[in-house]
Amino acid sequence: MQYGYFDDDKREYVITRPDTPLPWINYLGCQAFFGLISNTAGGYSFYRDARLRRLTRYRYNNVPFDVGGRYIYLRDDHTGTYWSPSWQPVCRDLNDYQCRHGMGYTIIGGEYRGIEARTRFFVPLHEDLEVWQLTLTNRRAAPAVLSIFSSVEFCLWDAQDDAANFQRNFSIGEVEVEDRVIYHKTEYRERRNHFAYFACSAPVAGFETQREAFLGPYRGWDRPLAVERGIASNSIAHGWSPVGSHHVRVQLEPGETRQIIFLLGYSENPPQQKFDPPSSQTIFKGSVRPVIAKYLDAGNVERACRALASHWCDLLSTCQVDTPDAHTNRMVNIWNPCQCMATFNVSRSASFYESGIGRGLGFRDSSQDLLGFVQMVPARARERILDLAATQLPTGGAYHQYQPLTKRGNNDIGGNFNDDPLWLIIGTSAYLKETGDWSILDEPVPYDNQPGSEQPLYEHLQRSFRYTLERLGRHGLPLIGRADWNDCLNLNCFSDTPGESFQTTTNKEGKVAESVFIAALFVLAGGELASIAAHRHLDQESATCLAEIERMEQAIRDHGWDGKWFLRAYDDAGRKVGSAECDEGKIFIEPQGFAVMAGVGMEDGTARTALDSVNELLATDHGILLLQPAFSRYYLHLGEISSYPPGYKENAAIFCHNNPWVMIAEARLGRGDRAHDYYLRINPSARQSISDLHRCEPYVYSQMIAGRDAPSFGEAKNSWLTGTAAWNYYAVTQWILGIRPSYDGLEIAPVIPASWSGFRATRKFRGATYHVAVRRTGPGNHVSLVVDGVPVAGNTVPLPSRQGGEVIVEATIE
Ligand code: GLC
Ligand code: GLC
Repeated sequence: MQYGYFDDDKREYVITRPDTPLPWINYLGCQAFFGLISNTAGGYSFYRDARLRRLTRYRYNNVPFDVGGRYIYLRDDHTGTYWSPSWQPVCRDLNDYQCRHGMGYTIIGGEYRGIEARTRFFVPLHEDLEVWQLTLTNRRAAPAVLSIFSSVEFCLWDAQDDAANFQRNFSIGEVEVEDRVIYHKTEYRERRNHFAYFACSAPVAGFETQREAFLGPYRGWDRPLAVERGIASNSIAHGWSPVGSHHVRVQLEPGETRQIIFLLGYSENPPQQKFDPPSSQTIFKGSVRPVIAKYLDAGNVERACRALASHWCDLLSTCQVDTPDAHTNRMVNIWNPCQCMATFNVSRSASFYESGIGRGLGFRDSSQDLLGFVQMVPARARERILDLAATQLPTGGAYHQYQPLTKRGNNDIGGNFNDDPLWLIIGTSAYLKETGDWSILDEPVPYDNQPGSEQPLYEHLQRSFRYTLERLGRHGLPLIGRADWNDCLNLNCFSDTPGESFQTTTNKEGKVAESVFIAALFVLAGGELASIAAHRHLDQESATCLAEIERMEQAIRDHGWDGKWFLRAYDDAGRKVGSAECDEGKIFIEPQGFAVMAGVGMEDGTARTALDSVNELLATDHGILLLQPAFSRYYLHLGEISSYPPGYKENAAIFCHNNPWVMIAEARLGRGDRAHDYYLRINPSARQSISDLHRCEPYVYSQMIAGRDAPSFGEAKNSWLTGTAAWNYYAVTQWILGIRPSYDGLEIAPVIPASWSGFRATRKFRGATYHVAVRRTGPGNHVSLVVDGVPVAGNTVPLPSRQGGEVIVEATIE
C-alpha cells in the first residue's frame, strides 16, 4: 500500500494521508541554518550544530512518535472549533490533506470546514532563518472569522543540557517582545552572543511566550488553552519554558485568500555590540531588523523561493539520466542527490533516528559522503576535505568525529578505528577526479588543528597510507584496532559490563586481530595514491605504493581467502571470523564487495566465486544481508555485532551501505543484470508499493532493512543519514551507467542490463556539458566511442578543450 506518489515534474514526493507508518521527513536549509520537518510539521531547527545551537525543542522517542514542531492552529471564532492544517497535533479529519516534500522546501496543508490552509516552509539561501508562508482561503459561502495561532517551543541552545539540567534550566529562560517579534534570549545576558526570533507579518491580537500560559496546566499541544479560548494572555517567559506564539485575527470573505508569513531565525551580535542602549540588557536589533523586514514581505519571499528552486536546479543538473527504468531515473535525477546533500550538510548528526546530540561529523562517514556530492558542490567538498584532514593526528590516525561548530576532533564516540585514515584518500581522489584541482594537494593542513604542524595535504594522505603499514598483524593483514568500517565488529574489547558503550570502552592493545576488509580498502586507496603520485611525477613513491599493494594482495590471497569467499577477519586469538569453519557468521558481505571493487581476485577467479557465494548465501528479495548465519547469541570476543537480535543492524540485516559495493563489484565483473537487480532491491522508489512493510520514506534510502532472521523481514529503519546515499549514487552513476570521472577525462563504461537498448545522460564535468547517448548493439560491455562525430580509441572522452562547451558523446556497447 502507498501513502502518496512521486511528482517527478515538480521534483516532489506528495504524501496524501498524514498517518504514514513513521514520520516521513524532509530537510530545510543548505548552508548554516537547518530544519528537519515531518509530514505533519514536526521536527526542529538548528544553526550549524544540532547539539550546541538548537533553536527549537524536540522530545525524542516520544509517544506518539512525532510531537512538537512548527505548529499553526486555526480557530473558527464563531463556533470555537479549532484544528491544525498540518493534521498534527489536533488531528482532525482534513479534506485534501497533502504534504509536498520538495528540494529544500515542504508544503503541508488541507481543508477543514471550508477553510483551506497550506503552509510552505523553507530556508532562503544565505539566510539564517526559516520562512513559514501560510496561505488561507475561505471556500465557504459566508464570511469566516478566524484566529490563527503560531507556535514553537524554544530549546535553551545546548540540546543535551536542555534535556537534562532542569535545576538550572527552569530558571534561566528569557524573552523580549517588540514589534510583533518574539526574541528568545536565554543566556544572552551572560556569555552567549546569539539569540533567536519569531516574527509575524500580520498585526497581532496577542502573543504567548510562556509555555504554561499557552498550553495551560495538564494540557499538551493537541489542545492549548490559549487556542481553545481564542485569546492570548501576552505572557512573558521568565524561567520555565519559553515558547513563541502569535495570535492573529482575520476575517475572510467568501473566496478570499490571505497570506501570513512567520519567520523563525537565528542571529549573532559582536560581543561589544550586544545591548541597545549599551548599558541595558536589551538586545541590539540593528542588524536583524532589516532581515526580518525583508522576509516579512511576500514579494521577497517569492523571490527567495525562486532562488532556492534555481539553486536546486543547478545542483541537480550536474547529472541527469534517461534510462528505461523509472526508479533509476527518479532516484538518480532527484532524490538520491538530494539525500547526498543532506548527508553532506549534517553527516550522521540530526535525523529522526539520530538525536543531534550524539554525533558530530564522522571522519569515515564524511569522507565517504564526498563520493555522492563532490560533483554538485566541489568548492565545499574541498573545504570539507581540508577540515577533515586538519583533524588528522600526527601518527596518521584519525579522530572518529569532529563538531562542526569548532571543527575540532574528539573521542566522544570512540577512537582508534584503524580504517578511518584510508577513507581520506578515497574522498580526496574522488575530488581530484571530479575537479582536476591538483592544487589541493599542496594546501598546508595542520595535524590535530595544532598551529605550526602544517604539512601539505599530500603528506596527510601518505601518512594515512603508512598508518596501515605500521599496524600489520601476524598474517601481514592490517590490525583492526577498535573496529573497521563495521563499527560493531569489536574484536579487542571483550565488554561484559551492561550498558557500556562498545565504541568508547577500553580496547585491548590489539596486536593480533586483523581485518581483511581494511586490507581490501588499503588496496583500493593505495591504488588511488599510486595514481596521484604518478600524476605528480613522483615515480619512486608511486612504485613503492604499488609494491605495498602487491604485498597486501598477496596476504589476502594467502590468508584472506576461505575457499569460496573472502574471510572477514582474525580475532584476538587468531581464529577466523567469517569462515565456513565458524558456527555462525560464516560469510560477511564487506570483504566480498570491497576486495572485488579493489580488483582483488580478478585474475584467479576468486572474485567471481566470492560474488557467486554472495548471490547464493546473502542475496534476498529485500537486498543483500550483511552476514549469515546471524549470531544467535552474544559472543564476548566479537562485541557489539552479536549484541543485536538476529536480522537487525550489523547482525545480519540488509545494511544498505554495503550493497552498492557488491553492485560495483558485479559491474567490474561485467555482470550488468545482477548489478542492476541488486540496485533495484533496495531502491526506495521501487519499494514504494510495499510502504506498509518498508515503513520508512519511499524517496530516500534507509541505513538498514531488517534481514530474513528478523520477524519484520523487509522493514526499513534509520532513514536519510547513511553512507548508503553516496555509495548508491556512485554505484549506479559511475559503475552501472558507467559515466565516470577519471584523472584524464570522462570514462564511459556502462555495465547495464542486457534488456536495455541503451540510455541517455547529461553530465557536467570540468566545465563542459557532456551529452551522452549509449546504444546497445550486442549483449556485452565493449564500448566504442564517437566524440563530436570523431571516433576515439578506448573508453575515455579526453578532457574538454574549453570551458562551457558542449560535447556530444555517442557510445556503442556490444
Ligand atoms: C554506521 C556508521 C558508519 C559505520 C556503519 C557500520 O552507518 O555511521 O560509520 O561504518 O554504521 O557499522
Ligand atoms: C552503533 C550502531 C552503528 C554505528 C555506531 C557508531 O554501534 O549500531 O551502526 O555505526 O553505533 O556510533
